[in-house]
Amino acid sequence: MQVGLMALSEPLVIPELLQRWTVVGIDSQGHQEEVLAGWREKEKNDRSTTIGQLISAYLEKKSDLEDHTVHLLFSANRWERVPLMKKKLEEGITLVVDRYAFSGAAFTSAKPGFSLDWCMKPDVGLPKPDLVMFLQLSPAEAALRGQFGEERYETSAFQRAVQQQFEELRKDSTVNWQVIDASQSVDDVHKSISSHSLHTVSAAQSLPLGELWK
Ligand code: TMP
Repeated sequence: MQVGLMALSEPLVIPELLQRWTVVGIDSQGHQEEVLAGWREKEKNDRSTTIGQLISAYLEKKSDLEDHTVHLLFSANRWERVPLMKKKLEEGITLVVDRYAFSGAAFTSAKPGFSLDWCMKPDVGLPKPDLVMFLQLSPAEAALRGQFGEERYETSAFQRAVQQQFEELRKDSTVNWQVIDASQSVDDVHKSISSHSLHTVSAAQSLPLGELWK
């Protein structure tokens, strides 16, 4: 059984990279690849969950939600996908997950009054990724990328606070974190992601699915 599950945790949006990543060529190793989209992709393609819609309206500043509440909604939005994730993993499909619980913990704990420990709790026990790739880019450079500044959280000051929380999360050696230098060319970033992915997919074949932060 193949249990490869990867999470891309990045504090910035690089659409062309994500697009390329979905065609990274995992098939050349004989594995199927499938993108389990986060709520945003879902919103684009199939806006099927009520929770996804609540989150979307909040991020687009069309509604306000209390901070603990939105944190728990993000987590609930992951948990509601767990049966589907497990089914796909059991079918031998590698899942590529955008952001996942790591963004949940990093973004909320960057808000005043939230501890990282509290923020991680609702996601304890989610399917554990075999690899988490963190695309490292300075907030200043991130701000130059397309569409930055339109949504909630897209200010340089907040992104710096988020980055610090990611640094804390990366100290956890129970998770296989790999930092990718996202200031490289798209091609080089792609090569790096591709190489980590192929290596992990092959290593994960014989491993059981773990539980995150447990
Ligand atoms: P996105 O850029 O991947 O679409 O994510 C949307 C925003 O939501 C982004 O600013 C990060 C934030 N976020 C959280 O605050 N908590 C979460 O659990 C996730 C997945 C994202």
